[in-house]
Amino acid sequence: MLDAVRQKQLIVQPQALELLSTLDNFEKIIEKLVEKNEFIVTREKIDEVISDISLKEKSAQVIVRHETGYRPLAKEFDSSVVEDATSDVTDKSTCKGKVGDFIEYFKDRLARGANIYKRRQSAHPMIPLSKLDSYGGKMVRVVGMVYEKKQSKNGHVIVELEDGESLVTCIAMKDSKAWEAASDLVYDEVIAFDGLKSRDLFVIKEVVVADVAFRQKKRSEEDVSVAFVSDLHIGSKFFLKDHFTKFLEFLNGKGSEKQREQASKIKYLLVAGDVVDGIGIYPSQEKELLTKDIFTQYEMFEEFMKSIPEYIDVIVCPGNHDAVRLAEPRPKLLPVFTKELGKFKNFHFVGSPALVKIHGFSTLMYHGDSIYSTVGAMSKLNGAISQPDRAAVEWLKKRHLSPIYGDNPIVPENKDYLLIDEAPDIFHFGHVHHNAQRDYRGTMIVNAGCWQDTTDYQLKQGYVPTQAILPIYDLHLGTLSLIDFKQDNSVVQAVGGEKSGVGKNE
Ligand SMILES: [Fe+2]
Ligand SMILES: [Fe+2]
Repeated sequence: MLDAVRQKQLIVQPQALELLSTLDNFEKIIEKLVEKNEFIVTREKIDEVISDISLKEKSAQVIVRHETGYRPLAKEFDSSVVEDATSDVTDKSTCKGKVGDFIEYFKDRLARGANIYKRRQSAHPMIPLSKLDSYGGKMVRVVGMVYEKKQSKNGHVIVELEDGESLVTCIAMKDSKAWEAASDLVYDEVIAFDGLKSRDLFVIKEVVVADVAFRQKKRSEEDVSVAFVSDLHIGSKFFLKDHFTKFLEFLNGKGSEKQREQASKIKYLLVAGDVVDGIGIYPSQEKELLTKDIFTQYEMFEEFMKSIPEYIDVIVCPGNHDAVRLAEPRPKLLPVFTKELGKFKNFHFVGSPALVKIHGFSTLMYHGDSIYSTVGAMSKLNGAISQPDRAAVEWLKKRHLSPIYGDNPIVPENKDYLLIDEAPDIFHFGHVHHNAQRDYRGTMIVNAGCWQDTTDYQLKQGYVPTQAILPIYDLHLGTLSLIDFKQDNSVVQAVGGEKSGVGKNE
């Protein structure tokens, strides 16, 4: 034991040395101390490491095996996961925090935002703001970024619009058709107005929202499904371990006949961040943690996830509790946190946001950090924290995942990764711990809720999260079902199909 201590150049206090000499697994403990950069070793440090190791071992005990005789349908089909590297900031961050970075970022945001409108037909000529005077009195379309928005004493909405060359004051008169949509604009949003120049003002006749086009809902020929989870918060005392274990057993074919039928089709599992609780995320968080060691938290996560059958492809993006930068866009988890799962062919780690084509369905994964700033800025989104699908619809309409620059931290990269270039078939997010789903113009929006019990903080805020509810999207039928692992394990069809909205039908 002494040799091992010397070899690692640890300074060990006498009482700690005495304890270490009584332990059979002293090598493992020394290894863990080095991993944690603890070179001055006290008895308390050893106690902490012992408890971390036992936590990890307890997680391992939940590993579930395939139910005998269970032959999942999804196993018969090849999986297809194609990551769109251009949509993901991982390994491509260029920002040095210089003025030039901000200029490049806003130039890209404006150009790509304007491109969405350029591809559209318009009854009026689309002109730059600098040319407005030569079109005086004629209806035109202008595109720009909202620099300022306020209401006049008479209740008109005044918008300062800029397009990189000019800044023009625009007005949506109260009682006009454009007023309501102009009131919903947020700072930094790229928007188009149809209207005309009158004296020094551009009078907005219509606010042309970028939005996504109506599309036929995509269906797969194969009878396969996608399941969604997010906000596991492993490492927190509030992680719903028993319910999550039930979910893992379900994936392995345990459960009622109806559940086995559902599980059998699951070919993909999407995980939208906050897989662990992290450390130092909010004040006094340490009181709510099982372990203050971030490596142990990820080891526990890996132990749980290892029991997912190998024919299911798992795609994981990070959240604000995960060990990556807080500011968005967020790169994928570092390999040091995915030592074991990183070796599995069926695990894919991506950034947030990221576009991934799964089974031919373009899927947008995003943790959802900007929901609070979006909801706060739009009066029509009142109450949308517990109906997050409503906020997601606004992101799709604005074609941006975090429209207001700076309300939540954003890194000005030379490309705006949060801009939504193309309408996705599936849009999965989390963060607010509230389940919701909606089919919007051919995009299936899903928020999986969470797998963490109500925290003291949420209790104080009077917030009621939804827990241990698993949404499953049937790519063949285009229907979405929910399984409630906390209540009664019932299967409920929530979106699409004849039974939509009728309640439990187990
Ligand atoms: Fe979360
Ligand atoms: Fe979160």
